[in-house]
Amino acid sequence: MKKVLLILTCMLLVFGLAACGSDAGGSTAQDDQTAETQEAAAQPETDGAQTGGDILVVYFSATGTTKGVAENIASITGGDLYEITAAQEYTAEDLDWNDPNSRTTKEQNDPSVRPEIGSEPVSLEEYSTIYIGYPIWWGQEPRIMDTFVESYNFDGITVIPFCTSGSSDIGSSGEHLADNAGSGNWLDGQRFGAGTPESDIQAWIEGIQ
Ligand SMILES: Cc1cc2nc3c(=O)[nH]c(=O)nc-3n(C[C@H](O)[C@H](O)[C@H](O)COP(=O)(O)O)c2cc1C
Repeated sequence: MKKVLLILTCMLLVFGLAACGSDAGGSTAQDDQTAETQEAAAQPETDGAQTGGDILVVYFSATGTTKGVAENIASITGGDLYEITAAQEYTAEDLDWNDPNSRTTKEQNDPSVRPEIGSEPVSLEEYSTIYIGYPIWWGQEPRIMDTFVESYNFDGITVIPFCTSGSSDIGSSGEHLADNAGSGNWLDGQRFGAGTPESDIQAWIEGIQ
């Protein structure tokens, strides 16, 4: 009888200690799995391009139209803004498309030109979606946009081009930029005119898959 009691006491001690150990020693693999599942369920959906804190709106704007659209996109999406400025600012003479010798005419006629960027570099690390905007110059993206896309790695980032123009469509400018970037998941772009209402921009953003 004494022996039986001794064995029972030992068993109680062993199981008691094991139970204490599991309480004090933290979680089991199953606990971790459950916690991970709950954590994942609490995360906001970031696959879509519409909203979230990991959005950057990059733009170049010589006369302010693209800047206005970029600001609308940033305010709708909650994204950060980054302006590409030229190291050598574009003057009114530079922008004269009627002059065959103006700076922009010469730049747009030479696909190898890469105007220097003046703004501080930006880190793309924290962003999963980038809207990238520019005016249409001679039916294409300004060459400084090529300088920008060739300077960064867009791996793992969804890139959405947008442009403003007098009347031209976005044409092949988005594809040019994607080709020159050589990385990133580039979506089809969208053209906006001056004075496009914010509701149109919002509808476009909501329609992006
Ligand atoms: C050098 C130059 C070339 C342009 N070429 C075109 C063009 O080919 N098609 C068009 O519709 N608009 C053209 N535009 C008009 C601009 O695309 C339009 O005004 C744009 O909204 C300006 O944007 P920003 O104010 O952000 O610079 C051109 C403007 C400039 C300065």
